[in-house]
Amino acid sequence: MAFGLPSFSSLFSKDTKSALGVDIGTSTIKIVQLKREHGRVVLETYGAIALGPYGGMEIGRATALPTDKIIEALKDVIREANVTTVDAAISIPYSSSLISIVKLPAAVEPQLAQVVPIEARKYIPVPIAEVMLDWFVVSGGKSGEEREPGKIEVLLVAIHNDTIAKFRSIAKEAQLQAAFLEIEVFSGVRAALDHGIAPIAVVDMGAATTKFYVVERGLIRESHIINHGSQDLTLAASRALSLTVAQAEERKRRFGLSPNSPPELKQSLELSLSPLLAEVGRTLSSYEQRTNQTITALVVTGGGATLKGFKDFAQSKIQTELRLADPFGKTQAPAFLEAILKEAGPEFSVAVGLALRRLQEAG
Ligand SMILES: Nc1ncnc2c1ncn2[C@@H]1O[C@H](COP(=O)(O)OP(=O)(O)OP(=O)(O)O)[C@@H](O)[C@H]1O
Ligand SMILES: [Mg+2]
Repeated sequence: MAFGLPSFSSLFSKDTKSALGVDIGTSTIKIVQLKREHGRVVLETYGAIALGPYGGMEIGRATALPTDKIIEALKDVIREANVTTVDAAISIPYSSSLISIVKLPAAVEPQLAQVVPIEARKYIPVPIAEVMLDWFVVSGGKSGEEREPGKIEVLLVAIHNDTIAKFRSIAKEAQLQAAFLEIEVFSGVRAALDHGIAPIAVVDMGAATTKFYVVERGLIRESHIINHGSQDLTLAASRALSLTVAQAEERKRRFGLSPNSPPELKQSLELSLSPLLAEVGRTLSSYEQRTNQTITALVVTGGGATLKGFKDFAQSKIQTELRLADPFGKTQAPAFLEAILKEAGPEFSVAVGLALRRLQEAG
């Protein structure tokens, strides 16, 4: 399940730098190789590989594989996609991180390096020495927007050292040089959104879970996890239509909610998608009510959003304007791939976002 592109621009590859984005999801590894050429970002290759078969499970299922199996799959997809760089950026799963907004007096802004680690103890359930901490001021102080007089809001991000060590070792074993690790939230948002001020929600529909982020002025305001994902659709269809899970997955991908989908399949998919969408809707309105702000659009990423007919069905259940992420729209690619890339785009948002940041940094 990997697609290699012909290296149509290999003639010029000597004086350009490439970067690889690696998104190790619970069900699928996604990789994207980009390069900068004459100031433009060019798609060199991309690929995806299902992790299920590395753990005796079906394609599309969420897994919890041991590290050696992940390394094996990563090496396979790198080979199948003809990746030519070792310069990589890797995502850390949202579930392995802790992200929260902390309110502090604006006066402490110059001392955040001392204050944040102390404050973080209230939010982080393990000793501070065991985590890597990072933070950004998202409102108040020098950020340009004040939410509450005299206060700043700080986005606090923590990743356990063991998680960092695990992803560094995966990179090393797969012969990659990990330039940085980044929580998938930030990578996905970079690839899915354009610059804008108004609050937008990004919904990442993965295999077992769906992640929900609110982004305002390019900054993450809030994040949630919803315990429904695209594998629920497969499992429900397998039960409802007496199919094996593999058959149900295949049919979900082939027909989805398209007009030519068998009625029972379509009904089953809609039935399992509805509670997920209802929860997205609830999360959205609860944010709007709490902050007295309107979320102007909802951008959907993740493999789950590539379900045929997803957009129209989801839009019929949610009032806010809904768009599918188009991360490859930020890259140059051969015209004959345009339709394919648009369709597959949502799945590759995190990987594209990682490679984009790496190119910016290296540029
Ligand atoms: N063409 C398709 N139609 C419908 N569903 C699809 C299609 N392609 C992939 N999926 C579903 O998308 C899900 C995988 O999406 P994705 O790769 O974004 O998840 P992940 O990153 O592995 O999961 P997570 O982010 O939760 O760790 C699978 O459940 C799969 O069945
Ligand atoms: Mg994912």
